[in-house]
Amino acid sequence: MGHHPVVVAEAAAELKASGVGAGGTRNISGTHPGIIALERAIAKAIGKACALVFTSGYVANETALQVLGRMLPGVVILSDEKNHASMIEGMRLARCERVIFRHNDAAHLEEILRQFPRERPKIIAFESVYSMEGDFAPIHSICDLARKYQAFTYLDETHAVGLYGLKGGGVAQEIQATQRIDVIQGGLGKGYGTIGGFVAASQLIIDTIRSFGPGFIFTTALPPHCAAAATHSVRWLSHSSEERALHREVVASTKEALRKRQIPFHDGGTHIIPIQVGDSRLCQAMADYLLFERGIYIQPINYPTVPRGTERLRVTPTPFHTPEMIEALCEALAAARGEAVASRMVA
Ligand SMILES: Cc1ncc(COP(=O)(O)O)c(C=O)c1O
Repeated sequence: MGHHPVVVAEAAAELKASGVGAGGTRNISGTHPGIIALERAIAKAIGKACALVFTSGYVANETALQVLGRMLPGVVILSDEKNHASMIEGMRLARCERVIFRHNDAAHLEEILRQFPRERPKIIAFESVYSMEGDFAPIHSICDLARKYQAFTYLDETHAVGLYGLKGGGVAQEIQATQRIDVIQGGLGKGYGTIGGFVAASQLIIDTIRSFGPGFIFTTALPPHCAAAATHSVRWLSHSSEERALHREVVASTKEALRKRQIPFHDGGTHIIPIQVGDSRLCQAMADYLLFERGIYIQPINYPTVPRGTERLRVTPTPFHTPEMIEALCEALAAARGEAVASRMVA
């Protein structure tokens, strides 16, 4: 979407009309019509009453979780162990009690929920697509628990917005769970191809975050041309499913081609395909071989992003990868481990 002709044209037109910067913080001259239009487009695409835009997805998480954790008296936050650093930082700044549940483990979450009095406020914080594991959260099971134990739900859809759901509203939208989630956080820099982040929720929640969030109040607003690009990307993907359909096809063909070549990978059902390597130097050497010998950029994921011994290459197909590219990737991957060892890239 970062190269989409409509998105580029709208950003260029706005750049000429408004200049490069926003001119101030949101409350001091930085709220421009473009950012309001963006918030409306997001709320509509996600399926929530309101949305609030931040300069990044990181700032959105850090600010929103911090405010919620501070505003709800005596709240305890239950956090998936694989949650992103921005969520962890938001919870740390909230200075409330936090308990970590095992990744995607609803039974463990329930065990923890049972330990707290019913009337004590609780927030369950999790992601819909985990970018290092390539798996989905059990959203409905977590929402069932939230209802049973009267917990508030906070879902990071950074890796899902634009890519899943009829209007690109994320995995919750795709599985009809949007109204079961209290706050949906998303990024504008990944599927939407631009920059910025947001939270979408009820008017009351959004007004609370707007009124008390340092990451909203004390920083210069997203510039108008960035807002224009994001608005048109969000609108485009809320009307067109073509890109999502194509993406799914390319992801399915990539997985099929990997299976055919017997290259082991973890299939969590998402568009992210982790290929287990299990050794940091080998992982880096394989990535170097792919880049320098084959002209293919695949990210090596090493400690501390993932635990030692679980190092992996992460394949993220786009709608624009062709069958020839997929074939070249699989052929190169099949050779990479042996080549990396043989060329003494690994000691
Ligand atoms: C799950 C998750 N949430 C939030 C973020 C932060 O988003 P941004 O890059 O827009 O700051 C990331 C970034 O990579 C992420 O992976």
